[in-house]
Amino acid sequence: MNREQLIKEMGLGPIWKLRRPPQKSAADAASSVAAAAAPLDHRTAAIAAMDWDQLRRAVAECTACPLYATRKQAVLGVGDIHAEWLFVGEGPGAEEDERGEPFVGQAGKLLDNMLAAIGLRRGENVYIANAVKCRPPNNRTPEAAETAACWPFLARQIELIRPKLIIALGKPAAQTLLQREVTISRARGIIHDFAGTPLIVTYHPAYLLRNLPDKAKAWEDLCFMRKTMASLR
Ligand code: URA
Ligand code: SF4
Repeated sequence: MNREQLIKEMGLGPIWKLRRPPQKSAADAASSVAAAAAPLDHRTAAIAAMDWDQLRRAVAECTACPLYATRKQAVLGVGDIHAEWLFVGEGPGAEEDERGEPFVGQAGKLLDNMLAAIGLRRGENVYIANAVKCRPPNNRTPEAAETAACWPFLARQIELIRPKLIIALGKPAAQTLLQREVTISRARGIIHDFAGTPLIVTYHPAYLLRNLPDKAKAWEDLCFMRKTMASLR
C-alpha cells in the first residue's frame, strides 16, 4: 500500500494531501484534475508571498471555507513576530471571535499561566496562533477540510516568524502541523520535526480545564519545552 492509499484507507484524504501535493507528472498536469487544482495552488502561492499586512487583510476577508459565514471576525494571531516560541491552538472561541485575539477566554487564562510557569509572557518572545482563523460554530472541532483551507495562512505565519520551537496545543493543531493522525498521549514528550523546526505536542488548555489529572502531565510537558528551548540556544 502506498502513502496515498494508506491515507485514503484511514479516511484522511484528500485533506492531508493539500499541503504537499504529490509531484505531478506531465500527463497529470495536462489532465482536468490538475486544472481543477490550479485555483487552490494559485491561492496558496499568493499567501506564501504575503507580508504581515497582506496576511492580516487576506485573513479578514477570507471566504475559503464555510467558517467565514458564521464568524464575527477572523483571528490571525497575536504576539511577537520575531518570537522564538510559537504556540498553535485549534481555533477561536466565542470570546476570541468577539475580541479578535486568540486565547482570551478561560482556556487563554490557563495558557497564560502555563506560559508564566516557564517564564514566558504573551507577546514577549511568544506568538500565539490557531489552526483555523475563524470560530467553528458552537466551538466544534474544525473539520479537516477547514484546517486544510486555512493551512496556507499558518504556514506563512511560521515562515515569517521563523520560531525556534513550535508547540502544538491539542490534537487538531498537532495533526495540522504534522500532517498525520496523532494522539496526544503518544505524541507528547517527543521532539517532532516541522520542516526543520523542532515541534512539541501537548494538551490543549481547554482539555486540561476538563481533565485536571492530566495537568501533571502538562507540567511535565512544560518542563520538557523549557529544556528543549535551552538546548536550542
Ligand atoms: N482555544 C483555541 O484553540 N484557540 C483559541 O484562540 C481559544 C481557545
Ligand atoms: Fe478562511 Fe481560515 Fe476563516 Fe476558513 S477559517 S474562512 S480558511 S480564514
